Amino acid sequence: MAPGIPRTLRYQGGALVLLDQRRLPAHREEVRCTTAAEVAAAIRDMAVRGAPAIGVAAAYGIVLAAEEAAAEPNPSASALLARVASAVETLARARPTAVNLSNALERMRGAAAEAAAEGADADEIVRRLEAAAAALEAFEIDASRTMGRLGADLLGGRGRLLVHCNAGALATVERGTALAVVYEQFERGHLEMVYVDETRPRLQGARLTAFELAESGIPHALFVDSLAATLMHRGQVDAVLVGADRIAANGDVANKVGTYALAVACAHHRIPLIVVAPTTTVDLGCPDGAAIPIEDRDRAEVVGSGADNSAPPATPVLNPAFDVTPANLVHALVTERGVARPLTQATLAGVLARSPE
Ligand code: MRU
Repeated sequence: MAPGIPRTLRYQGGALVLLDQRRLPAHREEVRCTTAAEVAAAIRDMAVRGAPAIGVAAAYGIVLAAEEAAAEPNPSASALLARVASAVETLARARPTAVNLSNALERMRGAAAEAAAEGADADEIVRRLEAAAAALEAFEIDASRTMGRLGADLLGGRGRLLVHCNAGALATVERGTALAVVYEQFERGHLEMVYVDETRPRLQGARLTAFELAESGIPHALFVDSLAATLMHRGQVDAVLVGADRIAANGDVANKVGTYALAVACAHHRIPLIVVAPTTTVDLGCPDGAAIPIEDRDRAEVVGSGADNSAPPATPVLNPAFDVTPANLVHALVTERGVARPLTQATLAGVLARSPE
């Protein structure tokens, strides 16, 4: 990664240190979490955001809860499991759409239960949970590299790419999902231009993706979200790359609001919309997009606040943070296990059945 891009998170025995993404790009500040409740607040308030990063942060939130329980006098394995269960509930409520969160929590709950069933004491359960969180972190890093490679293979010589929101290093642990493909394409010498939409209302494109690309020396241009279809009409876009927060069993994709509009515009202009996401973002328990919970966020994100008010303060507001793109509008899904193209229930199941690349 470019040295100027700070790491989203690092675990230092007893604390999870998060880069405060609400302050980027102007300030590089950190938030130090020592409890699961603090990690949950950091996820809810978006100090840490992006589906894979949220999952890894939540896993370390469980480690913190377990450490706290193990530090009490005469800690029992059952008391520790109860503390883990309560932390799982608190963290699961933080943000509803990114399934990486509940996937990570289930993984951690399972690791704790397995250790206890094998007779581990409280300290040993904590060690196992630390190892499980570190394994998830390592998995996401490896997955980013593999997805970057597979996505670039799929793109071939296409060098003018449009990206939405931030699906880069700041949304993961390193490199990203959709932006991992951009980085790989750049390293292969195939990249001409990255068109970065602002991503209203929280401006993850303007604040985070433009920051990552500038730090990496990658040619890019920022534009207002409503210009996307016009850029396609002018023939300036070879492919659109996006991440995902939850992919249903039939291939429908929930991602940052605005993705569906990009997909419709891509279909009209015959431009491939490529979704890049690790298998930790797939939810086979959701039959289709209609079953995906969509997070509604605060009205203040849309109307602005204080001197920046952009609408009368009492204006009624709609602010879903995500939308659902039907699988048939997706050209391909790139995961660390391979590419599903076209994206259907069968091709998705086929990719999941493979061992990692
Ligand atoms: O609300 P955010 O910033 O957490 O939304 C992020 C996105 O929608 C990303 O596209 C998605 O999480 C994939 S990140 C690799």
